[in-house]
Amino acid sequence: MNSSYFNAIAGAFLTVVFVVMTVSIASDAIFHTREPVKEGFEIEVTEGGGEAGGKEEAGPFQIATLMAGASAEAGANVFKKCQSCHTAEEGGANKVGPNLWHVLGRPVASAPDFAYSPAMVEYAAGGETHWMYQNLSEFLDNPKKFLSGTKMSFAGLKKPEDRANVIAYLREQAPELLPLPTPEPEAAEAETTPEATEASATPEAASDATAAEDMSGSSEMTPAETTEEKAEESETLDEAAAEGTDAVTTDVDALEEEAAEPTATETDSSN
Ligand code: HEC
Repeated sequence: MNSSYFNAIAGAFLTVVFVVMTVSIASDAIFHTREPVKEGFEIEVTEGGGEAGGKEEAGPFQIATLMAGASAEAGANVFKKCQSCHTAEEGGANKVGPNLWHVLGRPVASAPDFAYSPAMVEYAAGGETHWMYQNLSEFLDNPKKFLSGTKMSFAGLKKPEDRANVIAYLREQAPELLPLPTPEPEAAEAETTPEATEASATPEAASDATAAEDMSGSSEMTPAETTEEKAEESETLDEAAAEGTDAVTTDVDALEEEAAEPTATETDSSN
């Protein structure tokens, strides 16, 4: 093997290495993958009719599922945690917290002569909001989370059974018993949180906006959106064309051109 032959082989080898490295560096630069903003992917948990008292549900716990079996006696015991701040008998005094006689079913923030926090007064909506099984349960689960700004400094009753029992106890501290709730897995969530009432207006407005956008055609869309839409449109038109509709085939060509070149000026002249 003479040295020029060896040099040729070595040169060829180095060239290959050089090319491979160049390509790999260049492709790294071009196809740079960005770090995901959030690690992993979200798993949506839908309520599957698991065992009663399942703890890992996505939405707030539906207390109605436990009320029928709840015990007022056990609840009287749980209420000891509340007694440093609350009385529950008729005509009982306000302490750190308001008297809770007849609290279940009564308007929020309606104990006489008690200075509620602005947050609680706001949640009361001038007497519109009442303490019912579900919102009381969510409040007692985590008062500050349910109603940020409340001055009830209480960590919360984490066990659904404790909440059901103390609510059963409070239910009896009233002139008459409020009917027990019937478990309604889906409907119950709608009106319980203060956010829910505020948010209810927006989905309609949003869908109106989308509808309007659809009606007005492409003129108000961004070039990117338009291209996507056109691409979709041309797909459907392709199908139509495949079925033999001659009239649309010319449109398809035009649309496909646009889809390929998403410049603002071209999309404007489309319709
Ligand atoms: C550290 C004192 C404290 C403890 C303990 C406490 N609360 Fe309260 N609670 C308050 C205060 C203060 C308010 C008024 C909150 C506001 O105005 O934001 C309140 C408000 C309430 C309300 C709303 C009353 C209304 O008239 O709208 C309910 C219901 C309630 N508490 C139930 C309970 C129950 C049940 C427990 C025990 C599991 C408990 N609280 C434990 C201080 C306490």
